Amino acid sequence: MRLARSISELRALRTDLPEPVGFVPTMGFLHEGHLSLARRAHKECAAAVASIFVNPTQFSPTEDLAAYPRDLDRDLAMLESAGTDVVFAPTSDAEVYPPGYATWVTVGGITERLEGASRPTHFRGVATIVAKLFLLVRPQRAYFGQKDAQQALVIDRLIADLNFPIELVVAPTVREPDGLAMSSRNTYLSPVERRAAPALRRALDLAESLWQDGERSGAEIRSRLTALLRADPLARVDYVSVADPDTLEELETVGPRALVSLAVRIGKTRLIDNTVLPPGSPLLERRTSCS
Ligand code: PAJ
Repeated sequence: MRLARSISELRALRTDLPEPVGFVPTMGFLHEGHLSLARRAHKECAAAVASIFVNPTQFSPTEDLAAYPRDLDRDLAMLESAGTDVVFAPTSDAEVYPPGYATWVTVGGITERLEGASRPTHFRGVATIVAKLFLLVRPQRAYFGQKDAQQALVIDRLIADLNFPIELVVAPTVREPDGLAMSSRNTYLSPVERRAAPALRRALDLAESLWQDGERSGAEIRSRLTALLRADPLARVDYVSVADPDTLEELETVGPRALVSLAVRIGKTRLIDNTVLPPGSPLLERRTSCS
């Protein structure tokens, strides 16, 4: 595995890579969710590239940028064991956003809803860094997790709209044994909060069983999930959404597919999770496999 700590080192290493190149962008402090993407890129592509960069432009001034957990040595060992060939881990924010930086990539429409509604500049930061990384890494495939379903939808839009010749692969959410979706932010949870956190997975299970029992009212599913989450005294519901996966508009009636997504604060930590109905459906209808 080779490590690039600057853009020029990355460019030099990229020229020697066999194609197709698979790319896994991350903010580090890796867990099994990230590694599932890295292993898949290694398995399905001739070369696998990962990036580790806590992207400041996707955090709002009130968010946890300074406190975001970091452990580069551990991350590099994990990526090496997952078969990654090149890691781009820039030494400073200025390497990526030098003084005078003024160019932004803004995806419209779906970015205004859900995560975008409570974090107005978040997806502008995500789309900008991902577009920059796509231009530097020039992958044939990019691997994202369904854990951040709206982010995957934004990247799908970005790829289509800017004609990136990249196939997007959305991989399933990797969970702890009790159902909590793995996340670098889970480390913020106190032991008592950690015990409350699987309520999100229980709410998604409820959505799936309501759907199996024939419930098709978006309002009813939203209200049953909200009630389940509110029953936990530590949980503060930010949103419960039952939406069209293409437009993210809230559904009155669940049609062929729906994206059920949740954002819940447990103490000071904001957790998100989602599932697609019917249970087991892919997030992106037209692409199910990358091989
Ligand atoms: P980060 O939160 O580090 O996540 C990197 C990738 O790992 C994303 O595609 C995310 O969806 C995926 N991922 C996280 N938890 C997962 C889980 N439990 N199961 C499966 N996949 C999981 O998402 C970002 O970083 C940033 O926004 C980034 C795209 C790197 C741009 O800065």
